[in-house]
Amino acid sequence: MITRRDVSSITADAEYALLDARGLTPADLIAAGTEAHVYALGHDQVLKVYADPDQHQALETIADLYRRFDRTTVPFALPEIQAIEQHGTLLAVTETRLPGSPLGDALTLTSPATEHAYLAAVRDLTGLRLTTPLDRRMLLDPDPAHQGEDWTAFLRRLLGQKLPKVLADLRRDVPAVDSITVRLAARLSRSYTGPEGVIHGDLYPGNILVADGKVSAVIDFGTFTLLGDPLFDLAGACAYYRMYDEDRAAVRNRLLATAAENLPAGRRDDLADYLHLVALLSCDLYPEQGKHIRDTGHYQWAADVLNSPTDWKNR
Ligand SMILES: Nc1ncnc2c1ncn2[C@@H]1O[C@H](COP(=O)(O)OP(=O)(O)O)[C@@H](O)[C@H]1O
Ligand SMILES: [Mg+2]
Repeated sequence: MITRRDVSSITADAEYALLDARGLTPADLIAAGTEAHVYALGHDQVLKVYADPDQHQALETIADLYRRFDRTTVPFALPEIQAIEQHGTLLAVTETRLPGSPLGDALTLTSPATEHAYLAAVRDLTGLRLTTPLDRRMLLDPDPAHQGEDWTAFLRRLLGQKLPKVLADLRRDVPAVDSITVRLAARLSRSYTGPEGVIHGDLYPGNILVADGKVSAVIDFGTFTLLGDPLFDLAGACAYYRMYDEDRAAVRNRLLATAAENLPAGRRDDLADYLHLVALLSCDLYPEQGKHIRDTGHYQWAADVLNSPTDWKNR
């Protein structure tokens, strides 16, 4: 699995040298993300500073994805990368500056109107299509052996790779885990023939920008981006909203019930399967220093998702 080299490994000296070369100062910083520092570059662009020069190829792949977006298929802006340059130990990426600030900063996440706007944006994103197709399922998977893989075969493979690593722990925390994986394996043995699009993979309020009260952009595709059934993104996005709040199960079930409202029964089942897949595939992705995986927040969230009834399907 891909791991992120985070901003804490950007050294101040290297960054000052880069800023200097671009005529920028620390006062131009507009955001410090998990992977990059983001600076305003005039009115129309941003400069993102990444710590890891090994990310060059990944960023080229993301820039290529952005060029393939059919931007007429969504009602908001999407990122564009203009240049990727190596600066000593750092990478400098020039992007179009997008309007707005993250949804959780601009709006109150607990308000029903915000929940509604979030779900509407997520649904809109499920309509995103490419102008020219990609021949793989995981954007940043360079392995030619995986080219042309069927969507459900791809998910079966991911699950098969993940389960040996997490099953022993999950059996302690999720009594039904074996029946869940047996059911998933059976459903994923059928091939999928529905619509295919771009799955953002990390769709949560931090990656949705809001300007003047409206969703203005969806950003930060890449690490978890897949090509396949867009419903996969909808399941993840419902489960990631306020995922560390105490009432997360109620929030998640409300979003899922609303998302399921307009879907035929078979697609509701798909949505429930994707919810379980998101939990299973991500449960060990956020280890915390000095803690057993079972004691980490993200794992406990995943166990909670897997232990929750899917009765939202029939509301
Ligand atoms: N193209 C852009 N235009 C304007 N602001 C941006 C742009 N890209 C990123 N940002 C700001 O920087 C923050 C972090 O960027 P993001 O792409 O989400 O990276 P990370 O992987 O660090 O989360 C965003 O929440 C947003 O506020
Ligand atoms: Mg982000």
